[in-house]
Amino acid sequence: MNKRDFLRTALAGASGFAATADLLGAHAAIPTADLAGDEGFWAGIRGQFRVSPDYVNLENGFYCFQPEPVLAAYMEHVRAVNLEASHYMRTRKEADKVRVRTRLAALGGCAPEELALTRNTTESLDTVINGIDWRAGDEAVMANQDYGAMLDTFRMQARRHGIVNRLVDIPMHPASDEQIVGVYAAALTPRTRLLMIPHMVNITGQILPVRAVCDMAHARGVPVMVDGAHTFAQLEFRIEDLACDYFGASLHKWLSAPLGAGILYVRRDRIASLWPVFADDSVPNDDIRKLNHTGTHPAHTDLAIESAIEFHERIGTARKEARLRYLQRYWTDEVRGHPRIVLNTPAATRRACAIANVGIEGIAPSELARRLLDDHRIYTVAIDGAGVRGVRVTPQIYTTRAELDVFVQALKKIAA
Ligand SMILES: Cc1ncc(COP(=O)(O)O)c(C=O)c1O
Repeated sequence: MNKRDFLRTALAGASGFAATADLLGAHAAIPTADLAGDEGFWAGIRGQFRVSPDYVNLENGFYCFQPEPVLAAYMEHVRAVNLEASHYMRTRKEADKVRVRTRLAALGGCAPEELALTRNTTESLDTVINGIDWRAGDEAVMANQDYGAMLDTFRMQARRHGIVNRLVDIPMHPASDEQIVGVYAAALTPRTRLLMIPHMVNITGQILPVRAVCDMAHARGVPVMVDGAHTFAQLEFRIEDLACDYFGASLHKWLSAPLGAGILYVRRDRIASLWPVFADDSVPNDDIRKLNHTGTHPAHTDLAIESAIEFHERIGTARKEARLRYLQRYWTDEVRGHPRIVLNTPAATRRACAIANVGIEGIAPSELARRLLDDHRIYTVAIDGAGVRGVRVTPQIYTTRAELDVFVQALKKIAA
């Protein structure tokens, strides 16, 4: 199969993208803010997803499954790589990977040479934590509300190298950005060698003022690693504008790529000093590709990332962000202030987007999640830890207002 045939096969699923293009063409003149509440438009987008009829899925924070056109393209990529097999792996895999990386860098707002493809956020951020040349007594700062896998890796470094982990608590309803910056600043000491911060807290959906924290930390000589698992392709921003040193994200979350796709950004001048977890002497020490030599891996997934970018860019991050924030506000505004319903997500519009967390006084989170699923066919996830008690609620761009109406009625009924 020649290169053109291969590409044609791989893009066969792309015909499904045409419907999205037509829909967008018909709505091109509508301002983003108005489009956010246009149920007709978003019903068209929903038509691009195969949604389970068994329950209302409000747990898209784990995996934002692929829309049908991306899934079709993915299947074709699997077939194409399977057909070309070793020949593809030896002759074109690397060039394809570099092309995908270039597109991801353009979407993420950084130089391609500062980006590596990984399998997920865990791999990306753990590569950094494990790659630092820690000495006994070095300190790292992070939050109790950070994701567990990275906290585990920091704890392992404490056991292995004698580092000291300083954990802060992120205020759930901050009065200002300065308050959050102050919380992190108070944990820094002359021995701090890394500060980890989530761009969006996964259990509450709170968006943190990462740029301000980076500026504060850099003024004190401390590099910053940002957990962008939930912000890449959900919020409009450029990685470079965060001014962080390291950034990791999963593409199977808000980009709706197939499972097992992620990115690691390392600022150019930080690459050389990181030790790879899997060595690769064929790559220069200041080339970021030295950090993701994980052996033979599913090359078709890398190709499908490009299909996911195509679908995502047709809608555009700004439209997606506006719709997701609209959906979150649609339901949280209905229950905020209810005497027994507790929102664990800040009320300020800019401090949250798709994700919010809600609890009901006197009901354990696991029981609330169970009743929502068993009695109302609504799927959420219970969160009970790090000062947060409630269920995490994560709509996606295919979610309808009608589904959220069902959810709000269910919450009010349970609270009553
Ligand atoms: C904030 C945050 N960081 C990291 C991760 C880990 O993502 P993955 O399992 O894709 O590595 C998650 C997963 O939900 C997350 O919410």
